[in-house]
Amino acid sequence: MTFSFQASDTTGHILLYLLLCVTQLCLLYGWIGHSKIRTQPGSFVCENSNHTPVTILLWHWPFGRAYSLNGDICWDLYKIPGCKVVDQRSEFSNADIVVFHQRELAFKKQQLPLNLVRPPGQRWAWMSLEAPQHNGDVRPFANLFNLTMSYRRDADITLPYGEVQPQDGEMEDFSMNKSNLVCWVVSNFDSRHRRSKVYRQLSAFVQITRYGSNYARLPAANLLPTISRCYFYLAFENSISKDYITEKLWRNAYLGRAVPVVLGPAPEDYNAVAPPGSFIHVDDFASVKELGTYLQELAADKHRYMEYFRWRKDWKVKMMTDWRERLCKICTQYHSLPQSKVYSDLHAWSNV
Ligand SMILES: *[C@@H]1O[C@H](CO)[C@@H](O)[C@H](O)[C@H]1NC(C)=O
Ligand SMILES: *[C@@H]1O[C@H](CO)[C@@H](O)[C@H](O)[C@H]1NC(C)=O
Repeated sequence: MTFSFQASDTTGHILLYLLLCVTQLCLLYGWIGHSKIRTQPGSFVCENSNHTPVTILLWHWPFGRAYSLNGDICWDLYKIPGCKVVDQRSEFSNADIVVFHQRELAFKKQQLPLNLVRPPGQRWAWMSLEAPQHNGDVRPFANLFNLTMSYRRDADITLPYGEVQPQDGEMEDFSMNKSNLVCWVVSNFDSRHRRSKVYRQLSAFVQITRYGSNYARLPAANLLPTISRCYFYLAFENSISKDYITEKLWRNAYLGRAVPVVLGPAPEDYNAVAPPGSFIHVDDFASVKELGTYLQELAADKHRYMEYFRWRKDWKVKMMTDWRERLCKICTQYHSLPQSKVYSDLHAWSNV
């Protein structure tokens, strides 16, 4: 996949959508009205094969925190039509898709309803936003799920931590107010992580201001203003796994207006989702010393430094943080989801 998006005329698509829904047709086309962009072809949702809204049943709320589903939540919050998200288990026999969050299954807080007979055509979706190391044991769940929901680009429903959307922006001087060269916020410091090793090596060459455990504590409200005073932000993931790119990039660095220095999956994974010229990847340097030298040179050369902000004229960052948005997203691609599929070895699939 390459970094290419399409933008389109919202009004035109809404009219087209209404026309086609009236005639009971669902058209194979991206739902552009809501998100303005799509990275993969999807389809409009009008209804399921029984001519009723698509019903998504969430079996249990992730981390035990429930959100309101009152009203037509997908339409009201995200302008996604024909999508009914419910959390009452009594809706099981009406559900087109039942979603299960891995964490509670792995830690035995919840169980799969293996005693219930699945209505024909009902699909079960496995959902996790954790890196494989934090999923717990996935092996018991072989041959049970039909769909996957994860940050992975090859999941049936991809749930990124954030994404960019096109905009017509102004070029601002983001090099102002910088007082720290490199900043790092880390709450879970583990010397065995690769990121801790790179941090130690890099701190031998450049000044790194560190926040978080054992260092200056940073209340949530101060996070982005603090990062905005740094030329560079270490968006280092704690787990190195395919496509695992979290809010450390999307929120901390991008919304904090610092240039991200990333450590995580391969550069190609970042290139597939992040604008070119918007980040510096540790693996693109032969040594940490060379990286350090590069950062010092950039900070001293305003013109070159500003090149890393050029993308902001055309793109803005959108976070995806609400579980309801993730559930509603199923409907935007309902008609292009695999009709019959079984994850016979979910452990193998989820462990890359
Ligand atoms: C720099 O600081 C000034 C004063 O606090 C503020 O108005 C301005 O928006 C800041 N500029 C940037 C690019 O952060
Ligand atoms: C979903 O998976 C189950 C369990 O393996 C399987 O029996 C069923 O046929 C699958 N359904 C669909 C629609 O793929």
